[in-house]
Amino acid sequence: MTEAFKAVAPRHIAIVMDGNGRWAKKRFLPRFFGHKQGVDALIRVIQACIDRGVDHLTVFAFSSENWKRPTEEVSGLMGLVLAAVSRYLARVGQMGVRIRIIGDREAVPDKLVAAWRDAESSTAHNDKLTLNVAFNYGGRWDIVQACRRALAAGLAPEALTEERLAEFMALAHAPDPDLFIRTGGEVRISNFLLWQSAYTEFVFSDCLWPDFGEAELDAAIAAFHQRDRRFGGVNPAVTPAQEA
Ligand code: FPP
Repeated sequence: MTEAFKAVAPRHIAIVMDGNGRWAKKRFLPRFFGHKQGVDALIRVIQACIDRGVDHLTVFAFSSENWKRPTEEVSGLMGLVLAAVSRYLARVGQMGVRIRIIGDREAVPDKLVAAWRDAESSTAHNDKLTLNVAFNYGGRWDIVQACRRALAAGLAPEALTEERLAEFMALAHAPDPDLFIRTGGEVRISNFLLWQSAYTEFVFSDCLWPDFGEAELDAAIAAFHQRDRRFGGVNPAVTPAQEA
């Protein structure tokens, strides 16, 4: 990876890791195997993001709506994530990754909450990449919890601005995502970073998450570089004639 490539990497990439179930079904395997392969894909993508100079990677591991899945899939996912933390924590820590969990910890099994706490504290000194794991997360939940915390902090209605509310959002420590990738062919946001992705560039890939790797990440980053980010303004480099 060249330094020039690193210099232009998106600072923050968010990913909806979709398609694990279909990956398994295509192989006549239980859905759980797809999620298991999904963890391996995540480790690959973390390394690829580090190599490309990305600062923040935010992944949707379990949404507030995923509780609607069959009980055995939900408990399978909880167990898988718990096992993944104990299996990969040391390796991910050695890679220089700081782990942060975003989402509603209520209703998440105590064992998993304790494992998250360990993962966060044991990697707090790392600074190569911050991996934000969205777990029991929903974009609407995030906005509501931020409003609640802002009110609880005594913020008066007239003092509430976008900037002040942003301080209470779950990703207050990170810049807004530059690039949002959703794998698995669906073209929707599914209640992921609603507030934070106001000006994020979206790339939808047909690749199923367990098959996602460096080549697919580079294709998404290349698509990102084709975009003309105007953040609601105009690009001064573009003349009105070119724009029309
Ligand atoms: C969506 O695929 C995927 C999920 C709901 C789970 C993703 C979780 C992981 C990859 C594990 C992450 C682990 C850690 C440690 C953070 P789907 O089941 O909706 O697939 P389908 O659309 O093909 O049915």
